[in-house]
Amino acid sequence: MKKEFVLKRLTPYMGRKKVLLPLALILSGISVCLNIVPFVLVWYIVREVLSAPQLINITDISFYAWLAFTSAIGGIIVYFFALMSSHLAAFRVEVGMQKVGMKKILSMPLGFFDQHSSGKIRKIVNDGAGTTHAFLAHQLPDMAGSIISPIILISLILLVDWRMGLASLVPIILGFITMSFMSSTKGNDFQKQYFDSLEEMSSESVEYVRGIPVVKTFGQSIYSFKRFHGSIFKYKEMVLAFTFLWRKPMSFYTVIMQSAAFFLIPMATFLIGRGGNLPLVLSNFIFYILISPIFTSLLMKSMHFRRNIMIAEQAMDRLDNLLDYPNMNYSKNTENTGSHSLEFKNVSFSYEGSNKRAIDSISFKLNEGETIALVGASGGGKTTIARLAARFWDVDEGEVLVGGANVKDIPKKELMENISFVFQSTKLFKASLRENVVFGKEGLGEEEINQAIDFSQSREIIEDLPNGLDTVMGSKGTYLSGGEQQRIALARAMVKNAPIVLLDEATAFADPENEHLIQKALKKLSHGKTTLIIAHRLTSVQDVDRILVIENGAIAEEGSHADLLDRGGIYRTMWDEYQETVAWKIAAKETIGIGGQNA
Ligand SMILES: Nc1ncnc2c1ncn2[C@@H]1O[C@H](COP(=O)(O)OP(=O)(O)OP(=O)(O)O)[C@@H](O)[C@H]1O
Ligand SMILES: [Mg+2]
Repeated sequence: MKKEFVLKRLTPYMGRKKVLLPLALILSGISVCLNIVPFVLVWYIVREVLSAPQLINITDISFYAWLAFTSAIGGIIVYFFALMSSHLAAFRVEVGMQKVGMKKILSMPLGFFDQHSSGKIRKIVNDGAGTTHAFLAHQLPDMAGSIISPIILISLILLVDWRMGLASLVPIILGFITMSFMSSTKGNDFQKQYFDSLEEMSSESVEYVRGIPVVKTFGQSIYSFKRFHGSIFKYKEMVLAFTFLWRKPMSFYTVIMQSAAFFLIPMATFLIGRGGNLPLVLSNFIFYILISPIFTSLLMKSMHFRRNIMIAEQAMDRLDNLLDYPNMNYSKNTENTGSHSLEFKNVSFSYEGSNKRAIDSISFKLNEGETIALVGASGGGKTTIARLAARFWDVDEGEVLVGGANVKDIPKKELMENISFVFQSTKLFKASLRENVVFGKEGLGEEEINQAIDFSQSREIIEDLPNGLDTVMGSKGTYLSGGEQQRIALARAMVKNAPIVLLDEATAFADPENEHLIQKALKKLSHGKTTLIIAHRLTSVQDVDRILVIENGAIAEEGSHADLLDRGGIYRTMWDEYQETVAWKIAAKETIGIGGQNA
């Protein structure tokens, strides 16, 4: 698919200030012209001085000198304004892209954030905007200059004296040919490969660093370093190949572009020998010597254009990919959900890109005030069920009903007000504990906060912190353990006080002390609420209304604790195994004395 030119794709983000960019280009063009004027004037002065020294009119000369000076200064000032407009335009685009990106993120399904790390999303939105900034603010005005100036320069060169002009063009043409070779398909392929291997090396290095804790624990450092090492060597090979490919043309290019005199001197000598006017030839010679280096710098600048356009294009592509992601359509209705029940009707769901059903035709109903527990092997689909209940994703088949209404028809705000979700692994914000608990709930009294802290068994966590509730998380080494974080998340859910509670019990923190505290907190939180608990430890489930055993995305068994034990199926096996672990733990405690008074 042929994509639109990057500028055209960027303009919509400019808002009402669309003129700024063309203005910047025009101003930049004018500034280039103004910058060339002094050269012409100097040439003119030299020619006057050389051709008729006895008739020099000092006033005229100083006038031209001033004019040259003024136009040089003028060139700088106009360029300043060009950059100012291009920066304004670039900032507009940058802000525009960030706004569009952020707005899009708000309409993403919640599940999107499970699948995409915040770092990656930030990179797409922020860095993308930043990249286009550099392109629009700096490179584009320069590009306008480099298109206009060759035209003016070549016309000038040929007008002043076409023979000397041609001589001074020889190195430029040779330089240009060399440059086209360097940016030919082969050169470009090389460039792409070069950047690919650079990217590979940096992503391998991230992988390597990320994996260090695991790698060290398993004593596998050499193997994991191997990939990183490989990518470094691949990069090295690329750089070398790149350098060797460019070595000759680049040396030739650098030499030839500096060698105007080499062609101009023979031509000047030839012209004088043919009876040319000595002062005129000499002044022209000086003019050409002065003006040739401008070409060199112009060509050098334009070499990077393709790459810069490519970078801006890639940034746009990444943002467009994000924008193309299907939105979650939230209902604009204002209807209330009736009761606070939760029902799944023949729900099936697969994660994007997976052909396996994570949830396969599941039906159950949780009446208002009931508590249901999901248990089962890891990967069975328990968390997915909770996510679907909170509409992190839309189901593929069937319906999820909250208070009798399909979640698709419930306005986002209302759904979120009805549901509290305590995640399997909680993330606290880098804010004070108080903010983490209160989170968005306005007008809370100290008493309510304290009650939530007590009910969620978080009091002792807070007492150990230097500034109590006002300690900022993640600062100066104040980190909480996973279990502690989940207790704070429970306090947050208590403060929110939504009628439906989804609890994904943390798996990782199996210490009996924490387990016991979390148990207590769960009981408090679910009291009088419609509750779905995903339980990893069977202590939590003995007195719930119903237990669903989830296997391979389907309900394998369903009933009360007693029913399921009697049935002697999966749950029975799980329970027996669980009892064994508990027995083992108690035995261990008695022999080594873990736990002590607290347990
Ligand atoms: N974000 C995701 N993207 C793609 N596939 C996923 C995602 N989350 C889970 N899955 C897949 O869906 C299936 C069910 O996963 P789910 O997390 O619901 O299991 P679970 O029962 O909660 O497991 P656990 O007890 O380990 O928490 C698994 O096969 C898993 O690989
Ligand atoms: Mg889970």
